[in-house]
Amino acid sequence: MKAIVLAALVACGKSPSTPDASTAFCTDQTPAPTFANVQTLFSTICVTCHTTGAPLNLEAPAYSRIVNTPAVDYTDPAVIDSCGGTLVVPGDSAASYLFVKISSDSPCAGVRMPRTDIGTSAPLPMCAQNLIHDWIDAGAPN
Ligand code: HEC
Repeated sequence: MKAIVLAALVACGKSPSTPDASTAFCTDQTPAPTFANVQTLFSTICVTCHTTGAPLNLEAPAYSRIVNTPAVDYTDPAVIDSCGGTLVVPGDSAASYLFVKISSDSPCAGVRMPRTDIGTSAPLPMCAQNLIHDWIDAGAPN
């Protein structure tokens, strides 16, 4: 049965030859709310920009750079972003700027993450947004 469905998908051209990074991370089911999965998401999708030397570095292990850590002002990393507040507030996704940045079309500064190279947004699939949400609301365990 599975083979038939797969063959049908290939036949009608729906089989993705080069899935983009966000659909490669997850497509349907929300991964378990562990930091290991959150870090894999960052390492798959975010570190093309958020790498060593960037105001926000999401390279592994990013835990201490986001949990209970103030957002940075991207124009001047020495200045705490007046609008962003705290990147991850354990137990409170709504108050966590990192979650706001991936889930809102109008964050208080900049654009929704992940950005594209040309500065527009390419929102994460719901399973990836849910992972961040569920991990924070579970208390952001390391
Ligand atoms: C193409 C480059 C690029 C990608 C990919 C990208 N970002 Fe960003 N990110 C930026 C830039 C540039 C800024 C600052 C401007 C803005 O906020 O739009 C930023 C800002 C942020 C901020 C605000 C930081 C602060 O302290 O104020 C967060 C949080 C963030 N990104 C999270 C993510 C996450 C999580 C991902 C992956 C799901 C991601 N970004 C993917 C370029 C990127």
